[in-house]
Amino acid sequence: MVADPEPRRRGGAAGRASLTRRPPAERVIVALDVPDAAAALHLADRLAGLARLYKVGSHLFTAAGPEVIRAVRARGAEVFLDLKFHDIPAVVAGAVRSAAGLDVAMLTVHAAGGRAMLAAAAEAAAAGGRDGGRRPTLLAVTVLTSLTAEAAREEVGLARPLPEQVLHLARLARGAGLDGAVASAQEARALREALGEDFLLVTPGIRPAWAARDDQARVLAPREALAAGADYLVVGRPVLAAPDPRAAFERLLTECGP
Ligand code: C5P
Repeated sequence: MVADPEPRRRGGAAGRASLTRRPPAERVIVALDVPDAAAALHLADRLAGLARLYKVGSHLFTAAGPEVIRAVRARGAEVFLDLKFHDIPAVVAGAVRSAAGLDVAMLTVHAAGGRAMLAAAAEAAAAGGRDGGRRPTLLAVTVLTSLTAEAAREEVGLARPLPEQVLHLARLARGAGLDGAVASAQEARALREALGEDFLLVTPGIRPAWAARDDQARVLAPREALAAGADYLVVGRPVLAAPDPRAAFERLLTECGP
């Protein structure tokens, strides 16, 4: 059993300070971007004793369901359920309760669902804690980084420039009681500066110098992302696609330090 990624309280200043003292293995989340439970658990077994946190997204979850979460938890690791809930408040609250029932450590909702939806999610997460289970850390997704400025304006109809919209939604989420946000490593510094210490930042788009960029346009090395204010890093292909995922993950952990 590993330390609770962020215990029953919001990621306050003291919370972040203690987080930054934790070993890199408790701050790097391996994205299980694989098609089925067999592939996910094969990877978890290869990283046994080393990786403590895994992200389960909609690809794997739609194929493998809650059972894969139980199987990862049975291996002593924590789960970040990244299903980006976005629906009416009652439905999102139900989904958050279900996730809390699976004992996930972290989960995501879309901040674009609005204040009422975010507040309902935060209340449901807190109730998960009250029922004897752990209160999951609730993270907002702001603007998908795959969206270009032009698509945001012309297709989605966003009036604000993207960086302002990201900040606006992160503030909305914080005001509604969420614990933090998922943000690209490149956005981390601006968000940290604007939002202060009282907000968790989970950042994908991490690439050590030795890894391919894949389809990530804007990347940061692990050490740079942590220095920019990231609390947790999400890493997929640099580990998953490596000839030896365990060696790649070990190497990545050594690159989180000063
Ligand atoms: O393979 P890679 O390290 O690029 O994987 C990054 C993970 O982070 C994937 O699971 C992807 O869905 C997620 N992600 C991302 N960029 C975002 C948000 C999430 O790459 N802006």
